[in-house]
Amino acid sequence: MTDNQLVEVRELKSPKGAFLLGHLPQFNTYNKHQVLERWVEECGDLFKIHFVGKEFVVSANPDINNKMLRLRPEGFKRFSKIDEILKEMGVDGVFNAEGDTWKRHRKPIAEALSVKNVKAYYPIILDKTNRILEKFKNYSQQKTIVDVQKEFMAFTIDITTEIAFGHKLDTINNRADSFQKHLEVIFPMINTRVTAPIPIWRYFKRKKDKTLDDSLKAIEKVIYEFIDGAKKRIAENPKLKEHPSNFLEALLVENGDVNFTDKEIYGNVFTMLLAGEDTTSNSLSWAMFYLAQHPETVEKVREEAKRVYTEDAPNNYENVEDLKYANAVAQETMRLKPTTPQLYLESNDDIIVEHVVIPKGTSIILQNKVAQTQDDYFSSPDDFVPERWLSGGCPMHENHAPNVMRAFGGGARYCPGMHLAKTEMVVLISTLCKHFNFELEVAPEDVREKFEFTMYPGNLKVTFTPVVD
Ligand code: HEM
Repeated sequence: MTDNQLVEVRELKSPKGAFLLGHLPQFNTYNKHQVLERWVEECGDLFKIHFVGKEFVVSANPDINNKMLRLRPEGFKRFSKIDEILKEMGVDGVFNAEGDTWKRHRKPIAEALSVKNVKAYYPIILDKTNRILEKFKNYSQQKTIVDVQKEFMAFTIDITTEIAFGHKLDTINNRADSFQKHLEVIFPMINTRVTAPIPIWRYFKRKKDKTLDDSLKAIEKVIYEFIDGAKKRIAENPKLKEHPSNFLEALLVENGDVNFTDKEIYGNVFTMLLAGEDTTSNSLSWAMFYLAQHPETVEKVREEAKRVYTEDAPNNYENVEDLKYANAVAQETMRLKPTTPQLYLESNDDIIVEHVVIPKGTSIILQNKVAQTQDDYFSSPDDFVPERWLSGGCPMHENHAPNVMRAFGGGARYCPGMHLAKTEMVVLISTLCKHFNFELEVAPEDVREKFEFTMYPGNLKVTFTPVVD
């Protein structure tokens, strides 16, 4: 490529904005990602915006996005404000670490969430699946209209908490548990603060800032109690040094040159709880949104479930590997409704990506959702067609570009919880379809995409009817 083909940031188009505030008023909403999608329609897949003078480059171009993701950690880091906001909340873990610190954090976390360990955690996933199944059986008998998002959140928090600390938190049956309530406060506040032009909370604490402080204190207290408990267990039972029984013990055990401080352990446990909860439960909720509108898909998942296992839920991990159609449902859901539709990065240096000249310190928003629903990459892109993910594909669907899917990010920093999340999704989708038919209790167009750092279906209400054999 010759020099005159290069594009400088100053040459990029910009959508219409306000004089001083720039694009902030339009962006300060519950559906930021959809505002970005509208701007892609207006300006194409590469443009710039500004919030009160602070400039961002926005890319919805999958080639550029994939390259930037792969150029981490050296070429790009996460948008530095994320680190600032998380550190201010006391969270200093793998998600916001950079450079060599990130490498140190990433290794044990990737190991703790490896396929081998997810297999070992499988009894936990199965136990929570059976609990939520019993609860939904009651709901179906009582014809209860179910707020599935809340229910799935309880499911994922119970799994993550047991994997993280070995603690059996039964939020599925005891919604009043305050731990979940405190965690629910965090994401919306990260979302608001990351794009706030002025950090008002540092000068004046509003009610929501005080609520956040209280929740952070409560979570800190619980996590440190678990850290102290785990330290005692390891001291009393040195065998745990060789075979830690959960994520927290694994982080506490000295591991070569990876030796974490208590603050880093706290940061990583907190990160895991945050990263593992909303993302997975929101993806499950979106799956339910589609399943309730596609009884023929539910039927196919059910047929597969009956073929693969005879029990109520897939009894062992090997069953899960055979649930190819349930997996395709999960995949298709995340294509259409990725719960992390955009990622925020910053360049570490002057760098050229594809044909774009990016100066050091440029803030970048990667809008990954747009390409996932474009005809160039997926034929009939707006249709829910799980078959496109099965080997051999669907003859009706010619364009199929899996590499454009960035639901779990990409490059060295791709989501280390991907395998755990997919396992939770496949098991629950398969189990629920085996036992129930679903009906949406609101019109599909009234289920709105809402973004609070992760994207969830607002107003999703579903009823469950038992399957009669
Ligand atoms: C459907 C569920 C999930 C989705 C859609 C999701 C998505 C993502 C995305 C997009 C990223 C950013 C990746 C990047 O920068 O390239 C990420 C990072 C991360 N996720 Fe997930 N995630 C899910 C579940 C989980 C679970 C279950 C865990 C752990 C219990 C987890 C732990 C993490 C961690 C620790 C990071 C930071 C990785 C790093 O910076 O090196 N995630 N996730």
